[in-house]
Amino acid sequence: MDTGAAGTTGAGDPHYPMVRQCPFDPPQELATIQAQEPIRRVTLWDGSHPWLVTRHADVRAVLADQRFSADNLTPGYPATSPSITARRKNVPSFIAMDDPQHAFFRKMLISEFSVKAIRALRPMITETVDGLLDAMAEQEQPVDLVQAFALPLPSLVICRMLGVPYADHAFFQARSHTLVDTRSSVEDSVAASNELVEYLEGLVAEREASGSEDDMLGRLAVRHVRTGEITREQAASMGLLLLVAGHETTANMIALGTLLLLQDPEQAAKVRAGESVEGAVEELLRLLTVTHLGRRRVATEDVELGGVAIRAGEGVVAAGEIANRDPEVFTDPDALDVDRTPNHHVAFGHGVHQCLGQQLARVELQIAYPALLARFPGLRVDTPLDDIAFRDAMVVYGVHALPVTW
Ligand code: HEM
Repeated sequence: MDTGAAGTTGAGDPHYPMVRQCPFDPPQELATIQAQEPIRRVTLWDGSHPWLVTRHADVRAVLADQRFSADNLTPGYPATSPSITARRKNVPSFIAMDDPQHAFFRKMLISEFSVKAIRALRPMITETVDGLLDAMAEQEQPVDLVQAFALPLPSLVICRMLGVPYADHAFFQARSHTLVDTRSSVEDSVAASNELVEYLEGLVAEREASGSEDDMLGRLAVRHVRTGEITREQAASMGLLLLVAGHETTANMIALGTLLLLQDPEQAAKVRAGESVEGAVEELLRLLTVTHLGRRRVATEDVELGGVAIRAGEGVVAAGEIANRDPEVFTDPDALDVDRTPNHHVAFGHGVHQCLGQQLARVELQIAYPALLARFPGLRVDTPLDDIAFRDAMVVYGVHALPVTW
């Protein structure tokens, strides 16, 4: 067994995250690590040396094993950036809690995101997509696909579900952007989360007073805050997680996924014709893995993983972005194949923290891609790939803007 002792806590460890060579692929160095030393130490921004786990089976093993804690306040937790740690300390969120505390909050939301509940939203999502595409068709070209379509769609949908007025989108999108930028200062990040929580607390308080259960904040307020089960602030922090997770991820999948599909006219044509849509969505989720900075955990006990001894208190970065390219699991892993089956990717994570909003994200993407491509059959990107600003420093990868014509 490799105890990881020799030369593993020093200068030889590669820095994580690494630099991408191609905007659609994880850094080449990750593939080399996966092939040669699939569990090894890396160096993070703060000089810490967590374990990087790169194989699909090992990533799933980490995420399914509750001896690995998601609590980012546990010593040894591999922090993504100074501001993200500070913000989570400030406003605790169940994505960074362990069971039973995590399950206590998650349970309150499970029925809101069930397959059945999300299926019932299809007409509303389709109507929202059509409305945005109608408005986009009227705009002078080139149009920024991010601002015209990719960002407003999931924002409108999650606002409708939560009961957050979309008219306030400039306010919450700006703060959400600060929260997912690894370069944000601690002050800006804490201020952004405080302002969002205060705003959401106001909406929860309104529902407590009115007793309205028409939306998710209302149901949290009436069924859980009024009864004293949770505080108003805790309900607001659940709202914050849903608001941020609910639009940043899907928005980036829409824009980046469209950009990748447009590189391959044959597969784009299939999606435009409404064929292989579900397969295309899974394949784009797998290839792009927009939560590209690894799932972060810390061992609470000594654990043996893939022949490596991970000691209590040591950090682990379970790198889904490269696990989703594991040649042991995916044939020709770097190829886009909208008909790939099976496609057991980990783009939504795995284990108890597996994405709560995955059915919603799937349905939004399954409606958005074919509708966009069918409405604008001549859709093309109006700038060379080299000039596109990719979101390398953001917790959620994607494009900052995408000028398109048709
Ligand atoms: C958790 C990805 C959309 C809400 C996660 C996790 C991943 C992920 C990888 C696991 C985090 C971890 O293990 O540390 C994505 C992707 C999306 C997406 C790729 C879109 C394409 C959404 C949407 C919502 C949402 C639309 C809600 C409206 C959540 C929540 C959690 C979560 C609440 C925390 C679950 C828990 O800790 O129990 N997501 N997500 N996500 N996601 Fe998503």
